[in-house]
Amino acid sequence: MDSTMRTLLDGLFEQGATHDAAEPDRLRRRRNLEPETAALLTMVLRIAVAKRIVEIGTSNGYSTIWLADAARDTGGHVTSVDVEVWPGVGDNLARAGVEVELVIADGGDYLGRLPDGSVDLLFLDAERVEYEGWWPHPTRVLRSGGVLAMDNVLSHPGEVAPVLALLDADPEFTGETVAVGKGLYLAVKRAL
Ligand SMILES: C[S@@+](CC[C@H](N)C(=O)[O-])C[C@H]1O[C@@H](n2cnc3c(N)ncnc32)[C@H](O)[C@@H]1O
Repeated sequence: MDSTMRTLLDGLFEQGATHDAAEPDRLRRRRNLEPETAALLTMVLRIAVAKRIVEIGTSNGYSTIWLADAARDTGGHVTSVDVEVWPGVGDNLARAGVEVELVIADGGDYLGRLPDGSVDLLFLDAERVEYEGWWPHPTRVLRSGGVLAMDNVLSHPGEVAPVLALLDADPEFTGETVAVGKGLYLAVKRAL
């Protein structure tokens, strides 16, 4: 990542932290991904040469910009899905100069409409308690060799436990939790 992009992202992250500290309603906080988690996630994107990238949970576009910047290195494309359009998201993406498809939809409904094996990297960063109800789509839509990433695994272990149990029981997936930021779970779908 070049230094101009990093400066823009650092500014957005700082604004988000200030905004969130003053916002009593958790659901109105931007809850941007920690920079170190974003750095790891986007390095995985590059190593996996992921081209078809889907993020669930756009907020104001902070993690979306990280993903879209990395996708330039793989010739990839990011679709980011949220139930609402957050203030500033369009401006933030435009300022970063990244091309992203923004979809306003429920993450589970959106994944349910995608064909089997059509995604290279799926990043879940929405309301964790909803993920279990989205099954089997988060795993079904991934191609063999595709990556499933999920944040907040160490900060909210109870909320993600049902999904981790589903993944543990699925012989197609092997995953690990990395102690970075709030805990990033990374799993790869292997060919059986
Ligand atoms: C933790 S924030 C995402 C932060 C963002 N990834 C970032 O790092 O900047 C969670 C987002 O999930 C969205 N969300 C909540 N429920 C959702 C659902 N069912 N489908 C899609 N998005 C949802 C919220 O509107 C919110 O923007």
